[in-house]
Amino acid sequence: MEKLKVGVIGGTGMVGQRFVSLLAEHPWFDLTVIAASGRSAGKTYEQAVGTRWALEVPMPEKAKAIVVKNAVDDMAAIAAEVDLVFSAVDMKTDEIRALEEGYAKLECPVVSNNSAHRWTPDVPMVVPEINPEHLAVIPAQRKRLGTRRGFIAVKSNCSLQSYVPALHPLKDEFGLEKVLVCTYQAISGAGKTFETWPEMADNVIPYIGGEEEKSEQEPMKLWGHVENDRIVNASAPSITAQCLRVPASNGHMAAVFASFAKKPSKEEILARWTAFSGKPQQLALPSAPKQFLHYFEEDNRPQTKLDRNLEGGMAVSVGRLRPDTQYDYKFVCLSHNTLRGAAGGAVLLAELLRAEGWLDK
Ligand SMILES: NC(=O)c1ccc[n+]([C@@H]2O[C@H](COP(=O)([O-])OP(=O)(O)OC[C@H]3O[C@@H](n4cnc5c(N)ncnc54)[C@H](OP(=O)(O)O)[C@@H]3O)[C@@H](O)[C@H]2O)c1
Repeated sequence: MEKLKVGVIGGTGMVGQRFVSLLAEHPWFDLTVIAASGRSAGKTYEQAVGTRWALEVPMPEKAKAIVVKNAVDDMAAIAAEVDLVFSAVDMKTDEIRALEEGYAKLECPVVSNNSAHRWTPDVPMVVPEINPEHLAVIPAQRKRLGTRRGFIAVKSNCSLQSYVPALHPLKDEFGLEKVLVCTYQAISGAGKTFETWPEMADNVIPYIGGEEEKSEQEPMKLWGHVENDRIVNASAPSITAQCLRVPASNGHMAAVFASFAKKPSKEEILARWTAFSGKPQQLALPSAPKQFLHYFEEDNRPQTKLDRNLEGGMAVSVGRLRPDTQYDYKFVCLSHNTLRGAAGGAVLLAELLRAEGWLDK
């Protein structure tokens, strides 16, 4: 299979570095362009990132000498050079919206990590194991944008990528009604390390701007359906969330409480989790975890430090399933926020798009 040429816009940032690291050796994609702001443009990737490299793995040799382009000023040249861009820029929402539409209108598909287009009704927001059928809105979006090939697809917020996968295989069969979730989110989710955010050592901050709304509302789009060329959101379950920043480098944990119309047994829940396999597994996509949900029997698992990298950081860990006094059940979930929750989830989405022909030239 011929590799598709890809670019990363916002490639020098925290999420962008993950993209660069995942794409440098990808079997289907060839990383040829990295773009960022005017501060980085014209420098080699190695110079532009400098001491900001925040990953536990070294910067890929292949990326070091790439000369960084300007994501805004060089848009036309970039769109002409690559078959697809991944977006991880940190700009104002309306600027990101315009930038991503700009690439799409230049017939360069965009797979975005940003929230700017998550609520655009004809932009699919996809967790590939959960709602791959939402890609069916792409033709309507192309019609609106006036494009033949260009479109935007997005991934959802990182906080919900731990608990929505665990709730999904239970939702319809047992009638998921009510969810309460508290998340314990790593500092890389704010684009930070302990060096750049020393106040987080020995600390917990009980506020992450906008995160609780995203955690409560984005699952409704994921669980929505395609009707008349747009996504119609689900109206249930009801979700309430509190999101806390905790002193972990990577890995978002969630404590979940759930009630059902038809209460399942513990064995039924465990059986659904073990059996849950989505399109990425069926298509054997390169970044797909073999087992999406891993259940730990040990009382003290999953742990952020021990379990966040399971299956390349693309699997979700679940544990401590037990009855609750107010809800039917409670349990704990963990996912890697910059892998499954950000760049890895977007690369998996791009693999699904390629496998289903949406990136054909
Ligand atoms: N971190 C996470 O886990 C996570 C998860 C989900 C979503 N997100 C979202 O993903 C986006 C990126 O997050 P991050 O943590 O990677 O941010 P970051 O580390 O601050 O990186 C921001 C990137 O955007 C580029 N940029 C900033 N202003 C620009 C401009 N005017 N024109 C072109 N490029 C510009 C920066 O380039 P320079 O280096 O040249 O300044 C850098 O490459 C944000 O919107 C964030 O909300 C992050």
